[in-house]
Amino acid sequence: MHNEIDLDQINIHSEPPAEEPARQYYFMAKCRERVKDFTLKHGRVPTSCVVNMGCQMNARDSEKLTGILEEIGYQKTESEEADFVLYNTCTVRENANNKVYGRLGCLNRYRRENPHMLIGLCGCMMQEPAVVEKIKQSYRFVNLIFGTHNLYKFAELLYTVFENTSGGAQKDGHSMTIDIWQDTDKIVEELPVERKYAFKSGVNIMFGCNNFCSYCIVPYVRGRERSRKPEDILQEVRKLAADGVTEVMLLGQNVNSYGKTLEEPYTFARLLRDVAEIDGIERIRFMTSHPKDLSDELIAVMAQSEKICRHLHLPLQSGSSRILSKMNRKYTKEQYLNLVEKVRAAIPDIAITTDIIVGFPGETEEDFKETMDVVCRVKYDSAFTFLYSRRTGTPAAAMENQVPEEIAKERFERLLCKVQQLASQKAMRLEGTVQKVLVEHVNEKVESLVTGRTDNNSVVHLPGDKSMIGKILDVYLKECKGFYYIGEAR
Ligand code: 5AD
Ligand code: SF4
Repeated sequence: MHNEIDLDQINIHSEPPAEEPARQYYFMAKCRERVKDFTLKHGRVPTSCVVNMGCQMNARDSEKLTGILEEIGYQKTESEEADFVLYNTCTVRENANNKVYGRLGCLNRYRRENPHMLIGLCGCMMQEPAVVEKIKQSYRFVNLIFGTHNLYKFAELLYTVFENTSGGAQKDGHSMTIDIWQDTDKIVEELPVERKYAFKSGVNIMFGCNNFCSYCIVPYVRGRERSRKPEDILQEVRKLAADGVTEVMLLGQNVNSYGKTLEEPYTFARLLRDVAEIDGIERIRFMTSHPKDLSDELIAVMAQSEKICRHLHLPLQSGSSRILSKMNRKYTKEQYLNLVEKVRAAIPDIAITTDIIVGFPGETEEDFKETMDVVCRVKYDSAFTFLYSRRTGTPAAAMENQVPEEIAKERFERLLCKVQQLASQKAMRLEGTVQKVLVEHVNEKVESLVTGRTDNNSVVHLPGDKSMIGKILDVYLKECKGFYYIGEAR
């Protein structure tokens, strides 16, 4: 989606404006001059690559960063041999951090071959002081580090990098621009954002998280929960619809508590109803729900509206009430099961997916069996399963009885096996039915096929061509192949 502000109208020789987003457009205009200089000097447009390493929220942030780079004049590439590479990192599990260090080693090799190359790091992992310290010590070639709270200042920070480097190359080999904020309550609207697909888009409705689940680092790296104003969200969705978008995914760490922190409180159910009224929007998805906040009002709105997709991602985390209490999840096994029952009674064909952590401190075989029990009863359409990862600074990291890795891994394997077995049985239920499928892209492997999703998020491959992309078609699901269907347009 593009903004109405024309960079050519900005006087880059004046002082920068104090207010946002005008200040960022001023720096975008200044950066664009640098990109033009590069193009003249080297006879080519510089390339940029934003690598997304995290969740849907991170993916949306990456679209914002790419949107700004496009506005500045960079040419987007998927290759990490670009002139500017920006890693948008995740830190929810320790292995995500380790991957970044490994990949930085590779980038350094590319950088030696391209003296103009600039390297930036941002996202959740950068909110951890120990990480920034390590990068300062061991990865001195990195040019820019910023976090999750000042992402909107990207253009300004990039300009500082340009100032600290000469025409793209580093002046002294170790000038690093670092700007990490601890928190913010500011939400800057109207910045450019990349439109990856013509027909679907994510829309942030809130930022941060107040739940403090005891294993989770997110509240520390994404800050306190704050909601966008409903009128700003609806305005964005209206613009997207006018641009041809038919599917929106409303994004937040805990969408069910949307609006609680607004001056005039608003409910998520009400927001969904408002979005459903926008002409042109055919499908509405949302992520992520917390079982403790899922209201009857929301279930009723989902049941009534044709536009709200019949899919609910409802993280369980553990099936043991004892562990759930230690996790600070604020629901019991029974309450979770009752909730699922209530949702299914209101919306019988709904797909339910989940997240489960195995090996939380103190988890016994009995606790694990409770998790397996919930999995067998709910029969999830799919489940993301994770080995517990000890995150420094979270309450769980200091808990006694950390589960030995071999035991956790063995439980994880058992869980994964059960989840997959149940999910593939579950998938069979749509075989032989006609479903509405939004065609998303031409199949990567077979050119004569296109790939899309049903309302309840199942993947369908069907014969077709690129003219079908973005259309919602009636598709007969001929055959279930485990985790996807082969279909035929009706
Ligand atoms: N260890 C393992 N998994 C975790 N998650 C969050 N924190 C941790 C952790 N410390 C999982 C949760 C969450 C998902 C996004 O990541 O299941 O829902
Ligand atoms: Fe998303 Fe959490 Fe990872 Fe940040 S730490 S990218 S919020 S999953």
